[in-house]
Amino acid sequence: MARHIDILEHPQTAIEVAAATLAEGLPIGLPTETVYGLAADATNPAAITRIYETKGRPRFNPLICHMSDLAMAERYAIFDPISRKLAEAFWPGPLTLVLPLRPDSGIHPLATAGLDTVGIRVPQGFAGDLIRAFDRPLAAPSANTSGKISATSADHVDDDLGERITLILDAGASVVGVESTIVKVEDGEMRLLRPGGLAASEIERVAGKALKRKKKASAAIEAPGMMASHYAPGAAVRLDATEVSENETLIRFGKPDIVGSENAIAVLDLSASGDLSEAAANLFDFMKRADATGAATIAFSHIPDEGLGEAINDRLRRAAAPRE
Ligand code: TXA
Ligand code: MG
Repeated sequence: MARHIDILEHPQTAIEVAAATLAEGLPIGLPTETVYGLAADATNPAAITRIYETKGRPRFNPLICHMSDLAMAERYAIFDPISRKLAEAFWPGPLTLVLPLRPDSGIHPLATAGLDTVGIRVPQGFAGDLIRAFDRPLAAPSANTSGKISATSADHVDDDLGERITLILDAGASVVGVESTIVKVEDGEMRLLRPGGLAASEIERVAGKALKRKKKASAAIEAPGMMASHYAPGAAVRLDATEVSENETLIRFGKPDIVGSENAIAVLDLSASGDLSEAAANLFDFMKRADATGAATIAFSHIPDEGLGEAINDRLRRAAAPRE
């Protein structure tokens, strides 16, 4: 069973116990502003192997390496001017930059799946403090079994991985609620590898140029290992619902007109006021709650594709994709 430490009540104990656990090469449940991570020392191959094993994650899917600040990140990766500008504007925060790895950076190839690039993020709050104290990058995918819904609370981590890890740090619900936005700059062009908790329009505003996207309809692999079917609850998922069928739980955004909603097993409101940030923060928790109602299908009303809606719809398309 995993030990829980509340980081607000016991910040110093949390840092000390976490640093000692990481030094032993063991992964920990780590709160970040986006989602909870399963974090381990990115320079230690045994520790990284434990991340892949704990999640059942394919090893060709590289991990994001978390740093305490831009200065630390510059020790491990090479920044072009656009990437540096984005880092200065948005770190700490929900932005991951894919950058060329410095030779002899010390980040183990297991963390980058042998690529010559590395995904780097500087998380807000406690996670950044812990990395500063530990003084090594932390590789951290989301703290969930591969293919399942990401964890946005310590209890989610415990339900999914509690039997397989020894320590979970508890900071309450993740404020952003969806994973970081991943951007790669190549030949002066910005590519959106994954929409996430930082709206694309914010990035475009700061960079003064457009993000290149993959074609809308494809849920194909963008970042390596971004499977079409992902974020899968037990129930089937149906999008853009305008009516409720038998055996369905309804998740609404705003105040949509849905025929037969009185017949739903349960009705959950992601954001009654139509606020996309609130909807993102509730998304994964509500998917788990809807799943727990025993419905055969979770029906979502339409969610606009602007701002954080782009990340929400990306996750929902993957949740609704045919499963293997
Ligand atoms: O918000 C987040 O990003 C969370 C928290 C814990 O920081 N982490 C997260 O990690 O979502 P994960 O492993 O679930 O997703 C990482 C994504 C994967 O799709 C992976 O393929 C991509 O980042 N990625 C990592 N390194 C990459 C690289 N060098 N090139 C391209 N994609 C990369
Ligand atoms: Mg994940």
